[in-house]
Amino acid sequence: MSTVIGTATGTAGEGGPSLPQERRLVTEIPGPRSRELLARKQAAVPPGIGTTLPVFVTHAGGGVVVDADGNSLIDFGSGIAVTGVGNAAPRVVERVRRQVADFTHTCFMVTPYESYVRVAEELNRITPGDHEKRTFLLNSGAEAVENAVKVARHATGRQAVVVFEHGYHGRTLLTMTLTAKNMPYKHGFGPFAPEVYRVPLAYPFRWPTGPENCAEEAAAQVIDKITKEIGAGNVAAVVIEPIAGEGGFIEPAPGFLPAILEFCRRNGIVFVADEVQTGFSRTGDLFACEHEGIVPDIIVTAKGIAGGLPLAAVTGRAEILDRVHVGGLGGTYGGNPLACEAALGVLETIEAEDLTGRARRIGAAMLPRLRALAERNPVIGDVRGRGAMIAVELVVPGTTDPHPTAAAEIAARCHAEGLLVLTAGTYGNVLRFLPPLVIPDHLLEEGLAILEKAVNET
Ligand SMILES: Cc1ncc(COP(=O)(O)O)c(C=O)c1O
Repeated sequence: MSTVIGTATGTAGEGGPSLPQERRLVTEIPGPRSRELLARKQAAVPPGIGTTLPVFVTHAGGGVVVDADGNSLIDFGSGIAVTGVGNAAPRVVERVRRQVADFTHTCFMVTPYESYVRVAEELNRITPGDHEKRTFLLNSGAEAVENAVKVARHATGRQAVVVFEHGYHGRTLLTMTLTAKNMPYKHGFGPFAPEVYRVPLAYPFRWPTGPENCAEEAAAQVIDKITKEIGAGNVAAVVIEPIAGEGGFIEPAPGFLPAILEFCRRNGIVFVADEVQTGFSRTGDLFACEHEGIVPDIIVTAKGIAGGLPLAAVTGRAEILDRVHVGGLGGTYGGNPLACEAALGVLETIEAEDLTGRARRIGAAMLPRLRALAERNPVIGDVRGRGAMIAVELVVPGTTDPHPTAAAEIAARCHAEGLLVLTAGTYGNVLRFLPPLVIPDHLLEEGLAILEKAVNET
């Protein structure tokens, strides 16, 4: 019996920043080759695995994604905040190339290797706070969030976990329980994990008494709920995104995070910052917690950590992480040597190319244009975000009623014009922009012009 494996599309070794940094449409989107591949996907992959934009990628780098039909699209998504350093970033490629030829896996728990330790040392050094820290590595954001909860429960001897409205933490049993939104993340997948409690988030745009009251009132409600309904002494951890990602890039009103942190400190609750989406310079700080001087007890990272290779980390106070017995943590692939080398390449790139500063400049270029667009188009109710993590929230003009169909329509127009944008939000009415931090200015400008046109025509 012979098996046909199929033919690779594209030529190996042409991705990365040397790809022509241009938008180029040579077919309709998706083109015939992508449509063919989509038909095969539909026959082979269950529909539960969705597709935002059905172009099949052959190469990517800098600010573009190239598809199987030869179209070159502007990337405002970074594979959902992963390729901040760009796809096939040279320092990542070089390190991974060397590593793959040396050895691919031993299992760090069986026979360790230096790169894992170096990643841990680096994360201990660069994450907020100068206390003694430990780091262990995992494969995905969800796995890391789960492990943060395990560690917090073990260290405190308590069970309850407090999470927030609009929060997203993953798709495993525990993390989908921690996640707020029913459809598509939870619907039909119950029963959920016990001892998870949800409290309000300080969402300025939607706060009933106005954004100026949001931080104080929301923090008071959270503290009241925890105290009255759960009992602060039963809470192992509060898990929060410093900017809610999938929930719609909601920056909690200033003062909210410090108030929650202070409450946690007073009550021996482990404060876990989920920086899976916000970490590694995305928000114009290396970590979003830095913006308000938050020093979490545990910080969870993934996505941007390794330029696209699967890696995640739990970094926290030594006195919390050291409590777990030998063998209580780990996994076969966690801290795989290829992913560790990629992470070291990412950290070198962030520093060498000042990507934190670059994220700030991207925000400074995007926000004024989007605010001007919002003034002319009442369908945009709110413009928000920091650095290269920017969103617009769409509403029925003259109201704050969510307008998810406008978001879908604008995203579709952008896609047809070769601009990859993502949607988000509890109400599905947010367009979010996560360009690679290495995107050249001319593509950022061109992408914004396409977006402006799409909004104007909607
Ligand atoms: C804030 C946050 N936490 C956790 C996750 C889950 O990460 P992963 O998809 O790597 O499991 C995500 C993914 O989008 C996220 O944005």
